[in-house]
Amino acid sequence: MKKTLLIVATLLMNYVGMAQTPYQPTAENLKAREQFQDQKFGVFLHWGLYSMMGVTEWIMTNRDIHYQEYPKLAKTFYPSEFDADAWISAIKAAGAKYITITTRHHDGFSLFKTATSSYNSVDGTPFKRDIIKELAEACKRHGIKLHLYYSHLDWGREDYPVGRTGRGTGRPKEKANWPSYFNFMNTQLTELLTNYGEVGAIWFDGWWDHDNDAKPFDWQLEEQYGIIHKLQPQCLIGNNHHTTPFPGEDIQIFERDLPGENKAGLSGQDISRLPLESCQTINEHWGYSITDSNYKSGKELIQMLVRAAGKNANLLLNIGPEPGGALPSLALDRLKTIGEWLNKYGETIYGTRGGIVGPHDWGVSTQRGNKLYIHIMNCMDSSLFIPTSNHKVKSAVVYGTNKRVNFTKTGKGITLNLDTVPTDIDYIVELSL
Ligand code: GLC
Repeated sequence: MKKTLLIVATLLMNYVGMAQTPYQPTAENLKAREQFQDQKFGVFLHWGLYSMMGVTEWIMTNRDIHYQEYPKLAKTFYPSEFDADAWISAIKAAGAKYITITTRHHDGFSLFKTATSSYNSVDGTPFKRDIIKELAEACKRHGIKLHLYYSHLDWGREDYPVGRTGRGTGRPKEKANWPSYFNFMNTQLTELLTNYGEVGAIWFDGWWDHDNDAKPFDWQLEEQYGIIHKLQPQCLIGNNHHTTPFPGEDIQIFERDLPGENKAGLSGQDISRLPLESCQTINEHWGYSITDSNYKSGKELIQMLVRAAGKNANLLLNIGPEPGGALPSLALDRLKTIGEWLNKYGETIYGTRGGIVGPHDWGVSTQRGNKLYIHIMNCMDSSLFIPTSNHKVKSAVVYGTNKRVNFTKTGKGITLNLDTVPTDIDYIVELSL
């Protein structure tokens, strides 16, 4: 008896000791974080069986579709227009440096070959193709990084302990089996991190499904994150849990808002010291919506990207590909506009960090070394006070034309004397410090 107690106590101490060891990112991981921050712009892709219904990725729970009926959609999954190269070329030409693709969304269907279940694009559809593999290869060919979205919650599996969504899909509660589901997820994550080359990031979503539980739900995240970092130490982990980052995470995500803003109601959390990423929809939905043509304008999207950079964050801009496999033409149009702009002004965005001048109504600043880029996007006067504090400003020119901008030292900054009221999408003044 004594001996058993001793063993239990030792195991417990080891466990506690383990749990207390703070996560130490490897050198590769720290390097990947810097690269991630340099990239500034990624494209999010929400694609799956739900795309065929044309009413976004929440259709299964929103319409209480039975968990034994929904998977029948897989029998008609045949996106004949899908061309990974076409997607990635358009995304690259837009100036994006990475994609984040839904490998498996809340409906539980996998866009990759998995040994865990035949409910995947290879074994469970007439299409029989591994979407993630084709995208991974296209990304590699075009020098684009591959990030993988992975849903923590599942509206279709019997072993997933039902949370606050997906309650009407008919799964028998008594079949919930967390160890089995946890093992399923970790097996899939292992497949994703073994079969598709280097993965830039795993992007989790769905933690919030259990944020209302009376007894706090244990997702065993540290253990799961440990598996990921062991398989690919450089792989960044982000979790769209809408709170400040948990131990083991490498980036902080904001949904539908820039860090520090909370217009959509999901982003009141404090800003951490981790690299930041803000995800946004190009129209109003994530997954394909047949009635949603309310696309943000090129100007709005460019300004969003610039404001994100000024807040030291990446923009992850979402597109919901069509059921047939093509990217919507309006999305392609917006990508082109952003690409043309970045072609001219990318130097003021890529590889920069939020500048010494904080975000204002008029715009933001980005910075690389002693170059401070003042991005003026909303100014009604031809002169503008820039709070550069005690930093000495050596010169000021209009970015792109190199035309000198006169300025005077005023109080805790300088006043730029612009010739006219700037009306550009983003009028950039380059200051040398
Ligand atoms: C939300 C939604 C999900 C979407 C995600 C993208 O968490 O549940 O459908 O994938 O936001 O940020």
